[in-house]
Amino acid sequence: MNNSSSNCSSTLIFLIFIVISIYIIHTKFFLHLTINLDQIHLKKSPQLPLRFNNDGTFKILQVADMHYGQGVITRCKDVFASEFKYCSDVNTTMFVQRLIDVEKPDFIAFTGDNIFGSSTPDAAESLFKAFRPAMESRLPWAAVLGNHDQESTMTREELMSLISLMDYSVSQVNPLVQNSSRQQGIVLPTGIDGFGNYNLSVHGPYGSLLANHSVLNLFFLDSGDRITVEGRRTYGYIRESQLDWLRGFSQAQQDEHGEFNCCEGSPFSRKSPPALGFFHIPIPEIRQLYYQKVFGRLQEAVASSFVNSGVLKTLVSMKNVKGIFIGHDHNNDFCGNLDSIWFCYGGGSGYHGYGKVGWDRRARVVLVELSKKENSWLDLGRITSWKRLDDDILSKIDEQVLWDQGS
Ligand SMILES: *[C@@H]1O[C@H](CO)[C@@H](O)[C@H](O)[C@H]1NC(C)=O
Ligand SMILES: *[C@@H]1O[C@H](CO)[C@@H](O)[C@H](O)[C@H]1NC(C)=O
Ligand SMILES: *[C@@H]1O[C@H](CO)[C@@H](O)[C@H](O)[C@H]1NC(C)=O
Ligand SMILES: *[C@@H]1O[C@H](CO)[C@@H](O)[C@H](O)[C@H]1NC(C)=O
Repeated sequence: MNNSSSNCSSTLIFLIFIVISIYIIHTKFFLHLTINLDQIHLKKSPQLPLRFNNDGTFKILQVADMHYGQGVITRCKDVFASEFKYCSDVNTTMFVQRLIDVEKPDFIAFTGDNIFGSSTPDAAESLFKAFRPAMESRLPWAAVLGNHDQESTMTREELMSLISLMDYSVSQVNPLVQNSSRQQGIVLPTGIDGFGNYNLSVHGPYGSLLANHSVLNLFFLDSGDRITVEGRRTYGYIRESQLDWLRGFSQAQQDEHGEFNCCEGSPFSRKSPPALGFFHIPIPEIRQLYYQKVFGRLQEAVASSFVNSGVLKTLVSMKNVKGIFIGHDHNNDFCGNLDSIWFCYGGGSGYHGYGKVGWDRRARVVLVELSKKENSWLDLGRITSWKRLDDDILSKIDEQVLWDQGS
């Protein structure tokens, strides 16, 4: 009897112990293991396709070489000694914000060296800080990589994946292809070199004849970082697989538009829409511009790869490429023409990137305008470009026409 009652009370104590343990496990740990729906962040996406405004314009802001580090603790390079104390990555952020406020672009293109990998122990954090003004603006934006982005904790593939998942980003890691030899609807990544090769179409304004058609094409290429060729170190370059993809989609567009006959007399019924391209490292032919007239400043050597992979030849063969926008050489901000294609530098925008003391950080704007005929938008009319300086009034300089329908 005595024995059985002590057995009973020890069972009771044991049960109480179990209940308390379950309670503690539940409150202390279990709630942390379950997913709190309030905390899930779904990517915010802009409306696609990109589209011209009702006034027939589409404005692109090109931001090159932000070279972002860690933010407020990352100091500026090449500013006056008197400016050094109060200058950090935050100045780059403020510049990008002011550019967006003043220009009110429809789209922002970041052309690489967005972050300066070796100045940050956390690539993801640096990316979020660098692209914050773009994400907060709620404007569609896209980026490609330069040669410095991957010098921290993420590979180029990881960087492009993260960039493609950021709010309002329309960047892609690589194009997907429909594989017709398999089940319908299956898309596979193409066997393409690099990360950040993709195209975007810009459709005509709502309610216009061009509303459901691509009027302008934007394409993005990964120009790589550094490589060793025959024992010599050099910059990366655009590979044959990437050029192949470019030729392929240019061909596909020509086929599509071969059938497009909505607008009698419009060049759109005959040829593929004009295209603008964005990548980081200049192609070797840009050195030919040392001997030609350029718009803007050419004040440092063009730092391209010594490998010429035939990018210019491919772009010319596509026939519809009007402009290419690059970065990499911060102290060059010129546009020069090669075989009827404009090659334009953005000019360095980032304060932690090298620059030239007394030469303002800057960014490029590209305005694409449609032309009107009998009250409807029929065609691409004109492409103009200018730059904005990070001075008190965000001075607008070097405005030029890159392409005009009539010329
Ligand atoms: C950087 O930003 C600070 C704070 O707004 C400003 O005082 C300083 O002049 C800026 N420096 C440069 C070089 O623009
Ligand atoms: C499509 O799938 C087939 C069969 O799996 C494969 O052999 C072919 O390479 C694929 N094509 C592309 C473009 O990926
Ligand atoms: C890229 O180009 C291809 C070929 O013209 C087209 O089918 C595809 O829709 C384009 N992608 C985007 C996002 O515009
Ligand atoms: C474009 O597509 C929308 C939706 O399918 C349609 O309502 C509209 O009439 C089309 N516009 C033109 C100009 O074809």
